[in-house]
Amino acid sequence: MNILTVFGTRPEAIKMAPLVKALKDEPAIRSLVCVTGQHREMLKQVLQLFGIVPDFDLSLMVPNQTLNALSARALGALDAVLDELRPDRMLVHGDTTTAMAASLAAFHRRIPVGHVEAGLRTYDLSRPWPEEMNRRVVDVVSDLLLAPTAGAKANLENERLGGRIVVTGNTVIDALLAITALIDRDTDLRSSLAAQFPFLEANRRLLLVTGHRRESFGDGFAAICAALRRLSQRPDLDIVYPVHLNPNVREPVLGTLANRPRVHLIDPLDYLPFVYLMQRACIVLTDSGGVQEEAPSLGKPVLVMRDVTERPEAVAARTVRLVGTSEEQIVASVTELLDDQAAYNDVSRRLNPYGDGHATERIMAALVGRRVEEFVAPPIGN
Ligand code: UD1
Ligand code: UDP
Repeated sequence: MNILTVFGTRPEAIKMAPLVKALKDEPAIRSLVCVTGQHREMLKQVLQLFGIVPDFDLSLMVPNQTLNALSARALGALDAVLDELRPDRMLVHGDTTTAMAASLAAFHRRIPVGHVEAGLRTYDLSRPWPEEMNRRVVDVVSDLLLAPTAGAKANLENERLGGRIVVTGNTVIDALLAITALIDRDTDLRSSLAAQFPFLEANRRLLLVTGHRRESFGDGFAAICAALRRLSQRPDLDIVYPVHLNPNVREPVLGTLANRPRVHLIDPLDYLPFVYLMQRACIVLTDSGGVQEEAPSLGKPVLVMRDVTERPEAVAARTVRLVGTSEEQIVASVTELLDDQAAYNDVSRRLNPYGDGHATERIMAALVGRRVEEFVAPPIGN
C-alpha cells in the first residue's frame, strides 16, 4: 500500500513526525512524504529534529501570502504530485490550509484520505479563522477519521459524515513524550538547553507566551501586548515570548514590547528548547492549539487567549482557562495565579485528556487493518 503523507506547517510536522517514522518501519506500507513548505524556517527545524527527509518539497511559502494564493498554488502543485505517484491513500493533519488543499486535491482524484486529529470543532467559522472551515472540509472528504478524543468522535457522529471513526489520542503527546524522555535522561542536554536562556533568573518565575491566531490580528494583539507590558512591571517575573514569523504578529509585538525589562522576545524556538521552556514555565499564556494539549500533560496551567476552544477537555478539568484577548482579563488571570498559591495549586495538576503516547500505534493499526484498542482518557481529577 502506497501512503502519501502531506503537511506544511510547524504543528503539523510535530504531530505527524511519530507517524512518519512508524510508516517507514511498517513493511506492508511504502511511505512517501510531501511537504508543501507552507512554513519554511519553522518547518525545517522540526524536520531536522525528527530526521524527516521529505520525498517532495513544494516550497510554497511566500512572505505574508494570502490564503487564496496559497490554496491555489497548493492545489496545483499537489495535483502534479498525485498524478505522478497515484498513492493508495493520503494522510493529512489538523486544520491548516495545507491540510484543506491536500485533502481536496486527493478527493478530486478519488484518493482516500485519512484525517489525523479529526473532529475538533468550535462550531464558529470565525474562531479560529480559517481553521474551523479547513478542518470541516477535511473531515467531509475523509474516509478515515482519526479522532483524538471521545468528544471529537461525538462531533463527527453528530455530523453523520460517513467516514470510519477511530479514537486514537493525539499524536502530539507521542511527540512530546519522546522529547521529554530525551531531556530527562541526558544531563548534558539539559545543561546545554539551560545555557540557551542565560537571561532567566532562578529567583524569578517564568511566563511563557505564544500567540499567532489570525482572528486576533489588530485589536487582539494590541490588547495582548498591553497586558504583557503591564505584567512586565513585576520584578519577580520573566516573560519569554518566541515570536511567530508572521509579520502581522511580529510588528505589534516587537513594536510594543522590545526593550521592556524582563521581557525576552526571541525567534520561534526549535521544538526541543520549547519543550524545555514549557517544563520550566510557571504559567503558559497562549493561543496555540498544540500548546493547549501539551502543557496540561506537563502539569502547567494554561491561560488561552481565545474566546472559544475546540479543545474543551482540559477546560472542563480547569487546568486550561479561556481568558480571551482582553487586557484586563489576561493581567487579572496571570496575577491571580502568581499571587494566590491555592489558586495556582488548583490548576497545576498533571492531566492527560489528549493522549497517552500511543496514538501512533492506534493509527497504524487502523491503517493496516489490525484491531484497534481505542484511546480512553483518564477520568478528570487524576
Ligand atoms: C498557520 C496555520 C495555523 C497554524 C499555524 C502554526 C493556516 C491558515 N494557518 O498559520 O492554523 O496554527 O500555521 O504556526 O494554515 N512565516 C515565515 N516563516 C515560516 C512560517 C511563516 O516567514 O517558517 C511567515 C510568512 O510571512 C508567512 C506568514 O508567516 O506568509 C504566515 O504563515 P501561514 O502559514 O500563512 O500562516 P500562520 O499564521 O503561520
Ligand atoms: N512550538 C515550538 N516552538 C515555538 C512555539 C511552539 O516548537 O517557539 C511548538 C509547540 O510545542 C507545539 C507546536 O509548536 O507543539 C504548536 O505550533 P503553533 O502554536 O504554531 O500552532 P497551533 O498548534 O496553534 O496550530
